[in-house]
Amino acid sequence: MDLLRFSTAGSVDDGKSTLIGRLLYDSKAIFEDQLEAVEQASAARGDPSVDLALLTDGLRAEREQGITIDVAYRYTATPKRKFIIADTPGHIQYTRNMVTGASTADLAIILVDARKGVLTQSKRHSFIASLLQIPHVVVAVNKMDLVGYGEARYQEIVADYRAFAAKLNVRDVVYIPIAALHGDNIVSQSQNMPWYHGATLLHHLETVNIGAGRNNVDFRLPIQYVIRANSAVDLDFRGFAGQIVSGRIAVGEEVVALPAGIRSRVAGIHRGDESCERAAAGDGVVITLEDEIDISRGDMLVRVRNLPHSSNQLDATLCWMNEEPMKIEWPVSNSFSGQWYWLQQSTRRVRASVQELNYRINVDTMHREDAQTLHLNEIGRGQIVTTEPLFFDSYQINRATGSFILIDPHTNNTVAAGMIRDRARRVSELVQKQEEREAPSLRSSRSSNVVWEPVAVTRPMREELNGHGAAVLWFTGLSGSGKSTVAKALEQKLFALGVRTFSLDGDNVRHGLNSDLGFGAAARTENIRRVAEVARLAFEHGNVVLCTFISPYAEDREAARALAPEGSFWELFVKCDVEICKERDPKGLYERAERGEIPNFTGVSAPYEEPVQPEMVLETDRHSADELAQRILEALARAGIIPGGDN
Ligand code: ADX
Repeated sequence: MDLLRFSTAGSVDDGKSTLIGRLLYDSKAIFEDQLEAVEQASAARGDPSVDLALLTDGLRAEREQGITIDVAYRYTATPKRKFIIADTPGHIQYTRNMVTGASTADLAIILVDARKGVLTQSKRHSFIASLLQIPHVVVAVNKMDLVGYGEARYQEIVADYRAFAAKLNVRDVVYIPIAALHGDNIVSQSQNMPWYHGATLLHHLETVNIGAGRNNVDFRLPIQYVIRANSAVDLDFRGFAGQIVSGRIAVGEEVVALPAGIRSRVAGIHRGDESCERAAAGDGVVITLEDEIDISRGDMLVRVRNLPHSSNQLDATLCWMNEEPMKIEWPVSNSFSGQWYWLQQSTRRVRASVQELNYRINVDTMHREDAQTLHLNEIGRGQIVTTEPLFFDSYQINRATGSFILIDPHTNNTVAAGMIRDRARRVSELVQKQEEREAPSLRSSRSSNVVWEPVAVTRPMREELNGHGAAVLWFTGLSGSGKSTVAKALEQKLFALGVRTFSLDGDNVRHGLNSDLGFGAAARTENIRRVAEVARLAFEHGNVVLCTFISPYAEDREAARALAPEGSFWELFVKCDVEICKERDPKGLYERAERGEIPNFTGVSAPYEEPVQPEMVLETDRHSADELAQRILEALARAGIIPGGDN
């Protein structure tokens, strides 16, 4: 039997509790003892009719695990369908409850009091329903008894709501006139409104097509846990358990495990104790694969030719659910050093920080407003960076893989619900923002068609797009000290993090760009001047630039430093005793220099001026290149140049 999840929203007096109680009561879903308790309570208050509101109000305090939200989930069933009802208080403060209750709903019932018509409150609920892309909306025009069951009033409300809903992205809206208190059009057709020929509420709930809102195309299986069992039948059983959140899969089909990116084929599908040939969205399954692949919780199985997006940067709609306002880490140079949140997306949990808030949405007018942060119940659009990549689809395409929550790591509270719009913001928007910032006159001149001025793509824009800062890392030290070895190890690590790098090394530059230069003092100064200029260009293009040159003269290094803004140029002294360099002598140059074959050889017949105040000292005679590279990586993260400072 299939399952319909629906949420109910209405203001305190709209009669929501009565409606839910009526639905439960009339669909004979109330357990006898509960019913009895209600009857007794009603009788005790001298009320001869059963007060259905008492049924639901008692259950309000139920809490979602770990989430301090006032949502009560009720379960009921008719012979045709099972129902989960999320009952959320309709008070103005409770945007977050609505979002929580409605986030997995197939349908939302929006209650409108026939006497009051479409209020701000109803609009707010509808907006959230459209934001969450709840596929079906029922506008239940309640308390029809109090307007004499008149059709004219009902039609007026329908017209009002229609005009408003035209601005929203709601796909299917059905209007039903009801009187929940008396049961009109709840389960059986009302005798009081013969002019209404549509379905009753329950009939609609039983028959509405739930498949419409589900994604049956994109196979996504977030792994919940890995089952290892040694049974007599299968000595080395390894199964991957989880709920298929979208799409379908069959035995024999090729899948790929993310993030590993390794392919295999489905060997078996198990549902409960049964093994089956195929499974689809909503099924809890254990899948076995033909090959041994290392998969763990938070990974995802998908189809080879239907991959989700993968990025550590998200453009998302956020609904703030916490008393403490959202903390924003911007500019990038502070990222992860201060406030970060856990981001939980299906079974995957990574560290995240909100980098920027683009705007807040006024839920009543639906206008965008400038805002510094989001407070409780506010909704806005923001840019988020995570320490590890996420695998996602846009919420519009896939509600399961396109949504997430943010969790405060200190209190463990859910502080926000998020809906992913896209990966990072598009370049066109960055350009537009830059335009607004730097040349407010540009747009007006453009619109009047007078001039067109191109807008330069600047380093901050590139940094924003890249998701990390730019820097010049200047490795200086004797020949054989290990500059290139450490730099290469570092570059590998940066590459793995998706950081854009650019390398300049003495040996390669001297074969091309600077092949006209020797090793006299003036030639070395010119050598460093040129590479420093190239380094600056690469820096301005948003790269983390790695320069490995002996650069023996302090003055030349200071000149190189002067080309980059403060804090962006790091002098890294690769320190190693000259005797050890001689022992290493990777290119046999020391030996030749000592034999007098190479004049002006640094450390033998030419000076090396040690840095006085380098940003870091890297002692390669005491630590491995990998260790030192890791240290630089951590320092870069702490400085906020690259993400991951808290790791
Ligand atoms: S720098 O002094 O001008 O910064 P750079 O780093 O570009 O030197 O080049 C150093 C490399 O050139 C050394 O690793 C070595 O392989 C080679 N080389 C050739 N002659 C010399 C020399 N006289 N002194 C130092 N390195 C030399």
